[in-house]
Amino acid sequence: MCGIIGYVGPREAWPLIQEGLQRLEYRGYDSAGVVTLGRDKKPEFHQAVGRVKDLVSSLNGRSPRGTLGLGHTRWATHGRTILANTHPHTGCDGQVAIVHNGIVENFLELKNALIRRGHKFSSETDTEVLAHLIEEDLSEEKDFFAAFSHMAARISGANVVAAIWQEEPNRILGMRSGNAGGIAVAHRNGETILASDLGALAPYAREVNFLEDGEIVSATPTGAEYFDFDGRGLTKTPHPMPENWFSVSKDGYRHFMLKEIMEQPVALGSAFQGRVDMQCGRVALEDFPFTEGEIAELRRVVILGSGTSHYASMVGRHLVERLSGLSAEAESSSEFRYREPVVDRHTLVVSVGQSGETADTLSAMEEAKKRGARLLTICNVEGSQASRMAEGTLAMRVGPEIGVASTKTFMASMGLLALLSLYISQANGFITEETRRELLNGLTRLPNLIGATIADHTPYRRLARWLSRYNHILYLGRGINHPVALEGALKLKEVSYIHAEGYAAGEMKHGPIALIDQRMPTVAIAPPSGLYDKMLNSIKEVKARDGLVVAVGDRDDQVLASQVDHVLPVPRVHELLTPFVTVPPLQLLAYYVAVERGCDVDQPRNLAKSVTVE
Ligand code: AGP
Repeated sequence: MCGIIGYVGPREAWPLIQEGLQRLEYRGYDSAGVVTLGRDKKPEFHQAVGRVKDLVSSLNGRSPRGTLGLGHTRWATHGRTILANTHPHTGCDGQVAIVHNGIVENFLELKNALIRRGHKFSSETDTEVLAHLIEEDLSEEKDFFAAFSHMAARISGANVVAAIWQEEPNRILGMRSGNAGGIAVAHRNGETILASDLGALAPYAREVNFLEDGEIVSATPTGAEYFDFDGRGLTKTPHPMPENWFSVSKDGYRHFMLKEIMEQPVALGSAFQGRVDMQCGRVALEDFPFTEGEIAELRRVVILGSGTSHYASMVGRHLVERLSGLSAEAESSSEFRYREPVVDRHTLVVSVGQSGETADTLSAMEEAKKRGARLLTICNVEGSQASRMAEGTLAMRVGPEIGVASTKTFMASMGLLALLSLYISQANGFITEETRRELLNGLTRLPNLIGATIADHTPYRRLARWLSRYNHILYLGRGINHPVALEGALKLKEVSYIHAEGYAAGEMKHGPIALIDQRMPTVAIAPPSGLYDKMLNSIKEVKARDGLVVAVGDRDDQVLASQVDHVLPVPRVHELLTPFVTVPPLQLLAYYVAVERGCDVDQPRNLAKSVTVE
């Protein structure tokens, strides 16, 4: 989604803004722009549709001048992807410049009133309204801060806004309302920088402040001051910058997605680090916020997430039920938040998310909190809004995930949900110590087993050449591997744009079987499990209708091999741990199909890494 970077200090702003924009690219965007301002009080605007590199080439080797700058990457919500809609936006006289992430829900009403008062609009965006509102107040002798806070108080919806005014070339004002994604502020050595993303601040900051709902920041070279919308000063405690955020590089891989798939063994190890005591056969979750007494009061677990994080939650649901004996549900955040959910203090609500900034998940968490549920988050970005909202955070600790298609955070989410389930079971004694030890042993062996599974890419490349010719692919799985089928299909459609459908294999005969013919291959996830025979039946039903089948299954399973056209072999693990080994082959398959089709793997069209609008 939209990204914001702002700089004010003694240096020329553009080099830092340019680097910041590049670091924001992974969030997903369709156009980029910058405004710079110097002591001559003449703002300089540059915009381009496309990538940051298109913005840079539009400059023809020139650097925008000025020691204050605001940069923006736009992911279109209101208005097409055309130059006129690219940020920064200004009012009628071009003195105020605005960059924005979010949706101004009452923009039409505000815009119509402004038009009636004589304002002329040059874009189709909701953002432009903000510049006109500030401009109007400035023309009525309000000062910049008063005009900005008046604008902040009048707009509705979830929004992050940053603004400059040509008469104050040493000040950026920023605001946040609702769950519109984060904005972090860092001050160091006479310069203040603000950005939507820790990744953009990482090279310059050792500690940051996050702007909360209803807050304004006034950023100048001497520091950052914080206020509420009524102008009352606020004191904030800075958060340390997570260490693993400093380096963001492909490390020789062609794409971040491939790097992150290959990082999974290390990522899982890092999520487990210090949390598994093999000697005592116990899980040690120091960051778990609830006492044994509070765990004993829990009757139910609800796991919330969006997209890939929702599918990890669906795996988690099986783990919680089978290991802790508590009733568990997994629900997509966007559905949960609007259905008057019945949760109370006996419900543990666990939100799962890479970014901790997904608007749907944050709103679902708010809803759960409002209804008195206990709130835990599993999150990769420490200090994110989700971890600030929850009573406790189980941090994934897998470092930045840059590829828009989530991979290593799916793995870490499943790993932490497994540990959480075992941790609850330690308190309620639902499984025996022997079973717990067996699972812990299995979990700690996973990094090596996954590493071995994804070491040789030849089979994936070969299969990808063949699958990339199809327009529709069906993914089938059952039980704990049903969410793996959904995730495999999601990965493929996200990065290769092939239509892929994930389905519970037992449901196939209730409809999707009508689709099966030679033109619709099926990927069947069929590792050894209590549902293996049922999966085999589904595979036979596909074969009986001339469907081609690729199976993800046990490397020694000759029966499976004899039934299907191709096997992607995986090692044998405990049934509850099979998703950990069945998902990486599907990620690699999606990756190589996308490469084969020449797709932009790390930044697929229309997608955003953090979905900060509803
Ligand atoms: C997955 O590949 C997607 N990038 C998307 O479904 C993602 O998982 C979803 O938007 C949730 O993001 P979060 O984990 O940051 O909350």
